[in-house]
Amino acid sequence: MNQPIEWLHRGAQSPFSQPGTQRIPNAIYSDQALHERELEAFFYRGHWCYVALECEIPNAGDFKATMIGERPVIVVRDRDGSINVLENRCAHRGAKFCQKEFGNAKVFVCPYHQWGYRLNGELAGVPMKNGVGGNGGMPDSFKLEDHNLQRLKCHVHNGIVFASFDENVEPFEQFLSAELLPYFNRTFDGRKLTLLGYNRQRIRGNWKLMQENIKDPYHPGLLHVFFVTFGLWRADQKSELRIDPRGRHAQMISTRNSGGENKEVTAGVTSFKQSLKLEDPRLIDVEGEPWWGGPTAVMQTVFPSVIIQQQVNSLSTRQIIPRGPAEFDFVWTHFGFADDTPEMTERRLKQANLFGPAGLVSLDDGEVIEYCQSATSAYPSGECVVDLGGVDNGVNSPHMVTETLIRGMYRYYRETLGL
Ligand SMILES: [Fe+2]
Repeated sequence: MNQPIEWLHRGAQSPFSQPGTQRIPNAIYSDQALHERELEAFFYRGHWCYVALECEIPNAGDFKATMIGERPVIVVRDRDGSINVLENRCAHRGAKFCQKEFGNAKVFVCPYHQWGYRLNGELAGVPMKNGVGGNGGMPDSFKLEDHNLQRLKCHVHNGIVFASFDENVEPFEQFLSAELLPYFNRTFDGRKLTLLGYNRQRIRGNWKLMQENIKDPYHPGLLHVFFVTFGLWRADQKSELRIDPRGRHAQMISTRNSGGENKEVTAGVTSFKQSLKLEDPRLIDVEGEPWWGGPTAVMQTVFPSVIIQQQVNSLSTRQIIPRGPAEFDFVWTHFGFADDTPEMTERRLKQANLFGPAGLVSLDDGEVIEYCQSATSAYPSGECVVDLGGVDNGVNSPHMVTETLIRGMYRYYRETLGL
């Protein structure tokens, strides 16, 4: 799996100036040719990409149009209750036939020439197949079954749906790794999920910067006023970092404290605002989950397509949809559990205000990612420094004062792209 792909390496010159991953070349955030190789190697081969939560399409015929990398796909609930993921690309002339983001359909009909497809992607009929008045029509050799929509591999794991263009992709659990499965299953523990709502934003930055952001436990207690001041995430907390053996996925796991001053982590930190008080503590406190007694935050990156966020009582998936090397769409799906009380649902919705494009915390992330893009693309021969925590290339860590997870991602990146 993920063997180097011959054409990806033809004539490839590594932009990395030295072995290892403590230096990241600025060029990888803006190079178009490299971007196309990334799409092929990460989004279209060898990986499971996030497409939906099952609760978004509860009924037969319900569909959601989304993207894997830069390719449009449709996730649809079939009549038998199973989920199909289909290319949103008519087999006739290649039109993206479905423009609606959500809906319910009995068949999909391409608007261009009215080719109609069943919910499993089978071509059901084409107009004028037998000609008109003895004229034209499809040749005898034309068979409907030769022109079905391309169906992707699909895996539903306790309510979250992943898909892959790659027939030979490894089993999902193996892809995620035994190391990361326990905390993944802490969130997706088999309880039925409920959909709470969406945020969407377009960030003018390379998609990898978003993966890095959630592999970077260094910044939250420095950049985010809310995290450092109220103790939701900072370096004086009990925490742990986990990484899969390949280096691509990771989990940042932490248990909150009550914040306030601790010179080691607050002295000179301009985002620490000791006088800030919250009128309503339900915005940041935590209660009621079956997991408490354990960590209060688990932030997961599933490479390349999604971040799974659990911070106090708020839960979201954050889908990464690249749009060329210099920007990506970031789609937040906030969710809860079907057995939540109305009070818990209200609490989750309230805490969703921490996140999303204008979130009290994640507003900052979108902004600094744009700062990174703006200057790295202007200085393509420069490089970034990822030295914190040592000279490893991505290892588990019993603390968060390290950039090891970013180094792990670039180990995998270099290996997979042959750079
Ligand atoms: Fe952040």
